[in-house]
Amino acid sequence: MITGKYPSLRLRRSRKNDWSRRLVQENNLSPNDFILPIFLIDGKNKKQLIKSMPGVFRYTLDKLSPIVEKAIKNRLPMIALFPYTEKKKKNIIGSEALNEDNLVCRAIQLIKKRYKNQIGIMCDVALDPYTSHGHDGLLKSKYVLNDETVQILIRQSILQAEMGCDVLAPSDMMDGRVGLIRKSLDKNGYKMTQILSYAVKYASSFYGPFRDAVGSKGLLKSDKKNYQMDFKNSTEAFREVALDIKEGADMVMVKPGLPYLDIIKLVKENFKIPVIAYQVSGEYSLLSNGINNGLVNKDIILESLIALKRSGANAIVSYYADRLDKILE
Ligand code: PBG
Repeated sequence: MITGKYPSLRLRRSRKNDWSRRLVQENNLSPNDFILPIFLIDGKNKKQLIKSMPGVFRYTLDKLSPIVEKAIKNRLPMIALFPYTEKKKKNIIGSEALNEDNLVCRAIQLIKKRYKNQIGIMCDVALDPYTSHGHDGLLKSKYVLNDETVQILIRQSILQAEMGCDVLAPSDMMDGRVGLIRKSLDKNGYKMTQILSYAVKYASSFYGPFRDAVGSKGLLKSDKKNYQMDFKNSTEAFREVALDIKEGADMVMVKPGLPYLDIIKLVKENFKIPVIAYQVSGEYSLLSNGINNGLVNKDIILESLIALKRSGANAIVSYYADRLDKILE
């Protein structure tokens, strides 16, 4: 019998005990890695379940405090606000976006007044919650106009910055908007307001439940392929990120998350900028499996979140971020 030679290298050695597995662990998650999206709705005393997203709700402003307080207590660095807009407030140009008394503006003011800088506030810059056709910009013969849309997005950005928003997140995918928003913020005295650009945003069918959550689902005619990226492409992501960095983005987003790990890795390895992954609504719904609090497959959720981190995400926008105590335990 040959002794001593049989594999001297045994990778299972370090896997044998829990302490040892913990010792060689390469990736982990903490609350610092998460951004919590919060859906807002007008009215009073409502916590309204979003049917396509079990465990996720829309809140009226009077119900917001406990959610924000819990996020602060759990040390989440940031929340992202998304409004459900009533049909009667929508029109073809999305003018509610520029109403200084709109739901998002009121929410920012309320949160900033009560909680100051204990938590960051991020807001989307795009018109889709406000347009009667559900597109992110102005529509002409089924085409979303670029430069005309950007002019409105600049005004939406300034307004949200003025209300106290810390991080503006253009999610519209118009060309050139990051640079113009940055310039205009600086000129108007908001030089410390950050821009998290949705730089690599694919035209994805994984956004379905979100469109339901903000009330644009039934309204959306056709798709967003003339402005969001084709999911058959990856090198195009380089160009999008390079441009947004040049235009002044502080952070960039890759979206969706789990089906796009290759893209997250590619962006992380090629650019020295914080990369945020968005675990989108469709991913949430799939992982939550149609079950009440959305937490039945806890191990699968954790594994998916770690995958995003392992691929290179600095942080993750996740609808699970209000239940991390149960997922990361
Ligand atoms: C709007 C926006 C979308 C999402 C975030 N911001 C939807 C879209 O572009 O149609 C999707 C988020 C999600 O699915 O969780 N511009």
